[in-house]
Amino acid sequence: MNKLIIGNWKANKSLTQAQAWLAVVSNSVDKLDLTKVTPILAPAFSLLGTVAPVITKLGWRLAVQDVSPFPAGSYTGAVSVVNLQDLPITYVLVGHSERRQYFKETPQEIAQKAELALEAGITPIVCVSEQTLTAQVSAFNSSLTERCIIAYEPLEAIGTGKNASLEIVKEFQSKVKSLFGSVPFLYGGSVDELNVGEYLLVTDGVLVGTASLKAEQFINLLQTAQGDQPAVT
Ligand code: PGA
Repeated sequence: MNKLIIGNWKANKSLTQAQAWLAVVSNSVDKLDLTKVTPILAPAFSLLGTVAPVITKLGWRLAVQDVSPFPAGSYTGAVSVVNLQDLPITYVLVGHSERRQYFKETPQEIAQKAELALEAGITPIVCVSEQTLTAQVSAFNSSLTERCIIAYEPLEAIGTGKNASLEIVKEFQSKVKSLFGSVPFLYGGSVDELNVGEYLLVTDGVLVGTASLKAEQFINLLQTAQGDQPAVT
């Protein structure tokens, strides 16, 4: 399986800023080898219409950062799987620690989101940490867990520049394996172009927040991930 490199823009970028980012990336395609890495972009919902055609043309994959735990219907403000149906979306992040912290999402809601996504043919990337792993496992039934991707995101590493050591990642990975079986396993938390290589030695990919916001930096990170020496910028 190709390494999955997911750029999560979170609630950043206007339409104009997104277009500028896409223009830089579109001019850098010759630097990337899509037989080695699968770049995935997770923009805000409002940017999907602009981002989707470009990402598809590049041969990258598209993700969303969240989805409603409810089906289509009278849920004002929510974005349901039906709203996403005709867009080329392969993955959805569920249970990101920022959703759990600021939006008070529960493990049960996160399990509902994962279930609806799977029914809609979208693969859930379930974000967990030391604090949420056990409760999240209990909220999932086993047929659900087998079809998810698990992303380990230690709280202290997110957006802080304090990336977790490889030892800690490996330790968490074996816990995940004992609970979820051999599902794809990602790491996220202050991943950048300097440390991405070491995480890819032991994981199936990485979630990248801050280092995905500047197009040039994300391209450098992707080049490192595919085993190349990026040009110094
Ligand atoms: P970060 O964010 O790369 O800025 O630490 C990672 C994440 O929240 O997935």
